[in-house]
Amino acid sequence: MQNTKRISSDLIYVGASDRRLHLFENVYPIPFGVSYNAYVLLDEKAVLLDTCDKEVTGAFLENLRYALNGRPLDALIVNHMEPDHAANIARVLDLYPDAEVYLTLAASKMLQQFFGAAYAPRLHTVKEGDSLNTGRHTLKFIAAPMVHWPEVMVTFDETDGVLFSADAFGTFGALNGSLFADEEEISRFEWDEMRRYYANIVGKYGVQVQNLLKKASALPIRMICPLHGPIWRENLSALLEKYDLWSRWQGEEGVVIFCASIYGNTLSAMERLAALLNEKGVKHVRLYDLSAQDPSFMLAEAFRAKAAVFASASYNAGVFIKMEELLHDLKAHDYKNHVVAYVENGTWAPSAAKTMKGILEGQALTVAGETLTIRSVLSDEAPLCALADALKEAIL
Ligand code: FEO
Repeated sequence: MQNTKRISSDLIYVGASDRRLHLFENVYPIPFGVSYNAYVLLDEKAVLLDTCDKEVTGAFLENLRYALNGRPLDALIVNHMEPDHAANIARVLDLYPDAEVYLTLAASKMLQQFFGAAYAPRLHTVKEGDSLNTGRHTLKFIAAPMVHWPEVMVTFDETDGVLFSADAFGTFGALNGSLFADEEEISRFEWDEMRRYYANIVGKYGVQVQNLLKKASALPIRMICPLHGPIWRENLSALLEKYDLWSRWQGEEGVVIFCASIYGNTLSAMERLAALLNEKGVKHVRLYDLSAQDPSFMLAEAFRAKAAVFASASYNAGVFIKMEELLHDLKAHDYKNHVVAYVENGTWAPSAAKTMKGILEGQALTVAGETLTIRSVLSDEAPLCALADALKEAIL
């Protein structure tokens, strides 16, 4: 059954949500699903902006057919060639033989890698500043390389002020009847999921996101239509502020304590540290046992917090594996510009702190306090108090 939604007089949502997939990109848990957004602009030309993942092919094609209502499709704009948006390009081009494709040169090469050279005569490469007039609308193409693949562009409808932003400003989570972010107040959970999407999918490419934000700041944007999650038409400044912070690796609030504990003694000390931080008036403190958490949530928490405490047992003359995984993930996403502190535990030869510092060596991080070494069990609260004071001062 069709499930299109009208966005404006001539813009229609034709995407679909997947509530069955467990792992997005076969790695990130999505307990609340994900949406793959696609849009049809009905002007003198009928234009489709991106397609959808293969898992929602049926719903997407039904929506597209309904939206076109018998009209031929004149153009397909490909903002992003990753298969969660591009999987149905060949299907669409076969179903709609009049459709010409507008995409970057890099996207054109990728399209032919995925689907062969047969579509080459229908491909029109565009570059920064080029535009497509569809009748009433003028669609301007803006390069956005590495947000999140090299071929990415975004498309700005100059007529209505709509930015089709590709992966930028997207989030995990299926759509639940509503289409617009303002239809319900954005909850902490939804910001958390948006941050988790950003950190894991785009987080490494903050410099390129900053470039896109600069370009976006010069545009009279009235609405943002991303490829995942709800459409933004109100409170755009809140969204842009979050993206500005995240893409500069600036923490938003508080302290996160990441704990890798084998028998619970390191965790016990970190429970006390969390309580001391609270007693000292530090807000937004969160403590995690890394063995109980999915890494994608931890990466997002590292982006959220102004300061991170890395507390780990020593293991195999190094650091406990769950901490090692997190630190490598942080480094891979160029984690920097945050305050960090190190806590290690070792009954006979503490080695965790040296290993943790070694993994993050070269990242622009500010270390708060002295490295705290626990010998089996921490019985003296004084060093924890000193660490809590140092963290509080560092994030003021
Ligand atoms: Fe949603 Fe980079 O694909």
